[in-house]
Amino acid sequence: MTNSAVEIQASTLSGYSDASKLRQANDQDWVLAQAPAAPRVHADLGSGIGQLLQATLERFPSLETVVGLEQSTFRLSEAASRLQRYGGRVLLRQADLTAPEPLELSPDLITMTSVLHWLYPVEERIFDWVGQHLAPGGTFLLTTYHPARDGHGLGGEDELVREALVALGHDRALVPKLFAGEDILPIATRTRGTEGLKELLERDLRIVATTERDAVVRVDSAAEYEHFHAATFGDYYSRLVEPAKRAAFFGAVGEAAWRRQQERGHVSNMPVRLWNMTTRPA
Ligand SMILES: C[S@@+](CC[C@H](N)C(=O)[O-])C[C@H]1O[C@@H](n2cnc3c(N)ncnc32)[C@H](O)[C@@H]1O
Repeated sequence: MTNSAVEIQASTLSGYSDASKLRQANDQDWVLAQAPAAPRVHADLGSGIGQLLQATLERFPSLETVVGLEQSTFRLSEAASRLQRYGGRVLLRQADLTAPEPLELSPDLITMTSVLHWLYPVEERIFDWVGQHLAPGGTFLLTTYHPARDGHGLGGEDELVREALVALGHDRALVPKLFAGEDILPIATRTRGTEGLKELLERDLRIVATTERDAVVRVDSAAEYEHFHAATFGDYYSRLVEPAKRAAFFGAVGEAAWRRQQERGHVSNMPVRLWNMTTRPA
């Protein structure tokens, strides 16, 4: 059986440039407003298709080198095309941030946006890495999303997925078991609360300031959200259904989001926190 276009999109995480305009890309200026005035070396962790690196290269002529560490080879190759014109100032590396390897540079700006939930439950490894690599007095900017969760640990995107599964004939009450059976941790469980995160972060870094705002996602159609889901979450959730139903699953997620949009005026609304950190005094 050949895969549908949306399944191919999910397996290659493609279309993120458009999809991220709905949520992640909106954080860019908010984050960079807290960057130091003239950074020299910027490392972006989970750098995706290189959008944030491009933004810093354009914004800070002081930058000698930018480094993107990213797991997905598809995303790395899209980033390489996007950043080609900046030549030798750009270093892109495949990396697993749950087992980060030493870097030969000491960046004075490190960012990690919309990534942390994927590193649960070993986030302390990357925080430790940042503590070891950030130049003394440098800045680490981190964004974390905080969806409300129910008694089963489901919330945010998990809820739309639950709606989609119900539309495909699954029993609503059994959805948490379905997640557990496929070893799929709900995203709302993957996101620690702010107190737990603070405790982890303060082992390696000093928190200078935190700011919070609402991230509101709105769409104009079911198809728009279907593609956002595929580009952002890939096949993480679609593994919950058998291969023959996967195209229908993505469609049902889009439909669930569109129903929400019509009922509430938005698909989702959740707090996003920006943590501004620096090195701990020696
Ligand atoms: C939602 S995207 C965010 C991309 C970009 N930082 C942004 O703000 O738009 C999450 C990114 O984290 C990457 N990622 C997830 N787990 C990772 C891991 N263990 N190591 C490295 N990158 C990872 C994904 O491949 C993806 O590009």
